[in-house]
Amino acid sequence: MSRPKLFEPIGIGDITLPNRIVIAPMCQYSAVDGCMTDWHLIHLGHLALSGAALLTIEATAVEPEGRITYADVGLWDDATERAMRRTLDSLRAHSDIAIAVQLAHAGRKASTDLPWRGGAQIEPGTAGGWQTVGPSARSFAANENAPVALDAAGLARIRTSFAEAARRAARLGLDAVQIHAAHGYLLHEFLSPISNRRGDHYGGSLENRTRFPLEIFDAVREAFPAEKPVTVRVSGTDWVEGGWDIEQTVSLAKQLEARGCAAIHVSSGGLDPRQQIPAGPSYQVPLARAVKAAVSIPVVAVGLITDFDQAEATIGTGDADLIALARTILYDPRWPWHAAAHLGGHVKAPAQYLRSQPRQYKALFDLPGSAET
Ligand SMILES: Cc1cc2nc3c(=O)[nH]c(=O)nc-3n(C[C@H](O)[C@H](O)[C@H](O)COP(=O)(O)O)c2cc1C
Repeated sequence: MSRPKLFEPIGIGDITLPNRIVIAPMCQYSAVDGCMTDWHLIHLGHLALSGAALLTIEATAVEPEGRITYADVGLWDDATERAMRRTLDSLRAHSDIAIAVQLAHAGRKASTDLPWRGGAQIEPGTAGGWQTVGPSARSFAANENAPVALDAAGLARIRTSFAEAARRAARLGLDAVQIHAAHGYLLHEFLSPISNRRGDHYGGSLENRTRFPLEIFDAVREAFPAEKPVTVRVSGTDWVEGGWDIEQTVSLAKQLEARGCAAIHVSSGGLDPRQQIPAGPSYQVPLARAVKAAVSIPVVAVGLITDFDQAEATIGTGDADLIALARTILYDPRWPWHAAAHLGGHVKAPAQYLRSQPRQYKALFDLPGSAET
């Protein structure tokens, strides 16, 4: 039987991944003052043993005001860096999975409550809340406090914060950085004509709206070691008439590729409450396919990819080079093992777990010494 495409190695920049399965970034809302806690050890710890090729750490704020909630992870000072180091040291001791961090600024969608407490915006001046910023003074939802439009000093501060966080990521030995330019957060807010109403050279034309996100890319690329990949996560469309769309996404992807972006991760939506998302299996894959047709760097598809054959077909048909899993791998953290068993692939397993291999899947694990004893 030929090797399943899902389990073929692939290079991203200078790193080689053993298969095509990425763990998508997932906020845990479990940090204290931006510092990772024991929850992150447990959560990322079990995902690091999943057999996926790349583990992406959740949206990590580059400054405190860039957090979605007061319990988001950050990487803006020595304390947040130390907390992340503690988690990474444990992961590294037991897993060689490649690890990326998603660097983020939540823009006008910052300062909200935890999802399991309703997720509503918290007003500035109230416990756990602060004044948000954005490209323009337009709120996400009509009843929300409007962001303050960033001036030149604010833009410069955020550029520096992204670069500084990338330097901290490099010190931490992270394998890659992903820049969060999706889901209606700050960089996406600059891209979309719905949220970006600026009259200066950061608003208006596509060239102007892409300017700040591209400046952030350049700043991060320069701050992170040249041999390690910097990737970008985009929303392929706002799913709103007159908003950001796939044609503009393709144009951005080409510009990112020209500037040294190592991979594009194609998600969608999150910018406007009026969005009409046609959610269903593989619903974002056509967006990834359109980007892949325009660039040569690897493209990641994500969104309701839950089934092994569906994942294999996404790679096999050439729609995308990698697939990312979020809810699916929370539900089943051994999904890559089960996919390998189903498709005839191999995964790494920790020595402590080698005896779990079911009899009918003799060659599931890559490690030597996996024979039953
Ligand atoms: C609990 C949870 C937290 C998430 N946090 C992030 C995040 O930090 N950054 C991000 O870009 N997307 C985030 N997402 C979106 C996922 O990365 C993914 O794009 C989305 O869930 C669709 O993939 P799925 O159908 O496999 O869940 C989150 C999703 C979930 C379920």
